[in-house]
Amino acid sequence: MKRILITGGAGFIGSHTCVSLLENDYEVYLVDSFVNSSPIVINRILSICDLNNSNLGKNLKVFKGDLKDKVFIEDIFSNADKSGNPINGVIHFAGLKAVNESVLNPLRYWQENIFSSLNLVSVMKKYNCNLLVFSSSATVYGKESSSPIKENSYLNPSNPYGNTKLTIEKILNDLYDENSNIWKIACLRYFNPIGAHTSSLIGENPVGMPNNLFPLICNAALDNNTKLKIFGSDWDTIDGTCIRDYIHVSDVAEGHLKTLEYLNNHKTNILKMNIGTGLGTSVLELIETFSRVNKVTVDYKFTSRRDGDSKEIVADNSFSSSLLNWIPKRSLEDMCIDGWNWKKNNVNGF
Ligand code: UD1
Repeated sequence: MKRILITGGAGFIGSHTCVSLLENDYEVYLVDSFVNSSPIVINRILSICDLNNSNLGKNLKVFKGDLKDKVFIEDIFSNADKSGNPINGVIHFAGLKAVNESVLNPLRYWQENIFSSLNLVSVMKKYNCNLLVFSSSATVYGKESSSPIKENSYLNPSNPYGNTKLTIEKILNDLYDENSNIWKIACLRYFNPIGAHTSSLIGENPVGMPNNLFPLICNAALDNNTKLKIFGSDWDTIDGTCIRDYIHVSDVAEGHLKTLEYLNNHKTNILKMNIGTGLGTSVLELIETFSRVNKVTVDYKFTSRRDGDSKEIVADNSFSSSLLNWIPKRSLEDMCIDGWNWKKNNVNGF
């Protein structure tokens, strides 16, 4: 059985990826500081395992700690080595991810995201763990990139959060170049993950006031007194609102599984891969779909454009689909139904 360490495993994408791996007979070492996530997620992951096969939960081990603490990471790798069953690979989600906050406090973002990643890869190197899937973002592309965006498009993030993601990609490039006979690395550039697990047991649980569109649509649907603000009605798009590539979080999780399998079965490489559906949806289209499939009302009003927004950000996903022989399978309707069921059943989050 393969033993995979997942940093940030209690987060939104991390928790769904833990479920996918457990369901596919991986042993999962879930590492999280629980600073931006709740330990309740662990019980929820175990409950999902119970729904399917009560034995799978035994393959989950949880380690609470901070990746900035190198001794903490070393202990995990060294104990795994001593057990005779070393860690075969790492999926690295942990990191701060709020764009606005990163503008207000850039040094915190550099400190958290870069130090923790440097510690992680240096410990991996020491323990000869050579397989890494890194959670990057479509935010590494420049605003001037025209959609659909290919992986070789111009890279020019517009905020400190995006800068840290691109910098970690560069660190991984250098690590790979140092010894290209060893490393198997993939940087997955996510577009807009939304939705939730069909069980409604895990989903997005933003700390504080959300900034992203989908949680705000859910809030407006829950509370008749809350109006969603749509940032701009005069974009050069089909209905004047911005277009994004929304992808179901369970598809994103399966993309990680496929990437792990690909890296395992192929020679050393460093891959940069878009994880999106390749389909563009406007803000109004998303609201319309959400309201229709869930039979709810989402009140909204138009306001001025948000600083830093782009008209359209849609993936060209031909590289990931041909390389991994995988395409996201859940529809926009599925994303809206699963995301709303999660919210309705967990109004106050975890
Ligand atoms: C943002 C981040 C990106 C991150 C992604 C998902 C930037 C530049 N990018 O992308 O790094 O990976 O979130 O977490 O910030 N909208 C409204 N009203 C709202 C909120 C959003 O109309 O109250 C619109 C936006 O104008 C945009 C769309 O909804 O067109 C999606 O916005 P959002 O969910 O914030 O994601 P992105 O901006 O695409």
